[in-house]
Amino acid sequence: MYILVEDVYVKRDSQVVLESMNIKFEGPGLIQVIGPNGAGKTTLFLTILGLLKPVKGRILLDGTDVTGRPELLKGKVGYMPQTFDIDLNTPFTVWELVDCCMRMYSKWPRILRGNKDAVKEALVKAGVDESLWHKKVSELSGGERQRVFLARALVSDPPILILDEPLANIDPHGRVLLAETIGSLSKEKLVIVSSHDPSLMLKYTSMILVLNKNIYVYGEPREVLTPEILRKIYGFGWELVEKRVQIYDFHT
Ligand SMILES: Nc1ncnc2c1ncn2[C@@H]1O[C@H](COP(=O)(O)OP(=O)(O)OP(=O)(O)O)[C@@H](O)[C@H]1O
Ligand SMILES: [Mg+2]
Repeated sequence: MYILVEDVYVKRDSQVVLESMNIKFEGPGLIQVIGPNGAGKTTLFLTILGLLKPVKGRILLDGTDVTGRPELLKGKVGYMPQTFDIDLNTPFTVWELVDCCMRMYSKWPRILRGNKDAVKEALVKAGVDESLWHKKVSELSGGERQRVFLARALVSDPPILILDEPLANIDPHGRVLLAETIGSLSKEKLVIVSSHDPSLMLKYTSMILVLNKNIYVYGEPREVLTPEILRKIYGFGWELVEKRVQIYDFHT
């Protein structure tokens, strides 16, 4: 399975964010996308998902042109957004939210009856504690909710996952556990994940894209996590900590 970003050029308002981007994301495996705030990580994901149309260039999924066509990705790509546009006053429980996404993301939503096993499997894989399954989503903590949204992306068992900063808002122990979950998912799926701390998922990572708008470097971790490249992309917001790269998280 692969996603090909072919000579892609994306503008947001009048600002050019991505320019002449040529990358092949190939799986199964874990690919990290890192870069400072405003670098274009979310913009790249929205472009791959067909939710933003590039001014120029194409997105190919296993050879099919899916540029600007989100409907072609149903059942093939699971997406966990960085922020969630959900009215938290809606009375959904965790189970209902994940179950309803199973129907939404299915190719055949009308004939699909509730699939209890798929919902349960997604909740377990995403590490959502069973005691939370029948609680209202509005009653969860930010980190607990984050896992529910990972379950939502997993529920149709798509071969490709795009996760936009899944480890943000999770406590340190939870981050390690969730990084392990994501790592094990990448044994069978193409998992593309953005992050501000590449070290947590490093041992599972096959390739890293270091991005800062029109500048990018794509390669194996040892090729791209070098002082020269990090200086070029981040300026001074990073340091090597006992051979680990620590990138400062400036999120507010
Ligand atoms: N909805 C929008 N309308 C116009 N411009 C936008 C919009 N969202 C983001 N941008 C701009 O596009 C550029 C890239 O933003 P993007 O959200 O892709 O960065 P990012 O790498 O995901 O950053 P972060 O680490 O903060 O999530 C930024 O200059 C940002 O201001
Ligand atoms: Mg982002």
